[in-house]
Amino acid sequence: MEQELQRLQEEAQQELAALTEAGQLEDFRIRFLGRKGSFSTIMRSLGTVSAEDRPRLGQLANTVKARIETLFEERQSAISKGLAADADRDQIDLTLPGRRPEIGKLHPVTQIMNEVCSIFEGLGFSVAEGPDVEHDHYNFEALNIPAHHPARDMHDTFYVSDSILLRTHTSPMQARIMEAQQPPLRVIAPGKVYRCDSDITHTPMFHQVEGFLVDKKVSFADLKGVLTVFTRKMFERDLALRFRPSFFPFTEPSAEVDIACVICGGKGCRVCKKTGWLEILGSGMIDPEVFKMVGYDPEVYSGFAFGLGIERIAMLKYGIDDIRLYYENDLRFLSQF
Ligand code: PHE
Repeated sequence: MEQELQRLQEEAQQELAALTEAGQLEDFRIRFLGRKGSFSTIMRSLGTVSAEDRPRLGQLANTVKARIETLFEERQSAISKGLAADADRDQIDLTLPGRRPEIGKLHPVTQIMNEVCSIFEGLGFSVAEGPDVEHDHYNFEALNIPAHHPARDMHDTFYVSDSILLRTHTSPMQARIMEAQQPPLRVIAPGKVYRCDSDITHTPMFHQVEGFLVDKKVSFADLKGVLTVFTRKMFERDLALRFRPSFFPFTEPSAEVDIACVICGGKGCRVCKKTGWLEILGSGMIDPEVFKMVGYDPEVYSGFAFGLGIERIAMLKYGIDDIRLYYENDLRFLSQF
């Protein structure tokens, strides 16, 4: 009987240690400590032991029972604390908003490009896109820039081969579209252009939007009107425009267009280099030579063209003075737009 009591205590200890749920405790209690449980069964044989051994064994039985009861209570409280902790963990507040995935955004350059396009679409222009890898013919020849023309020097061209290059401007689209279609034409051509140049206001790749309009009796006044409407919409205010005489081989006369400095309002600051003006685009009346090369009669048709730099407009609109920020892909910068 002594051995039986010892085995019972060991067994009880092991079983209790393995219990993890409150429901299992009751089952344990019935099996070990209940009226028909293992302990009672052993106790029933106490009557059969000798009177001499009985007091000692009775005492041992009480100790074992007390020990099992203590262990049982300890386990019970451990489980109930554990359960309390579990319950805390499972308490989900269904009214809390979920964790939202971060939503991507359009790059600021893309946003400005879209904005520019939609302003011109509102004026009846249609959008056309052409290749980044271009023939020398469209990039230069068809725009009245023959081989060895000094204007080629200004372009810092990336050549792929003798006659293939990365387009240095979007103006080749003038030649491509005019060659394929008859006037009247109202087209804008957005896209990437490439020049071997890199500093705080130049990146080797940047974006331009070319615009041109060809019809009968198109005048410089039409160019001024279209660009005035565009700058007012783009910068959301009535900015002064300045047309400065310039030269492009494919326009005559040519003008570079400045807007009153958006930073200082024309008073003169670091951004406008104290001039009060910011250059935003090149433009002019399409040169009769260009018309002749695509087979238009310059006596019948006239037209204007302009090319504007998207990064430049984005820099002015957002007051950013280093163009390279657009291409460093720092989300802290990009997500502000
Ligand atoms: N293509 C010229 C440039 O990149 C800009 C321009 C376009 C000028 C159309 C006149 C007409 O500098």
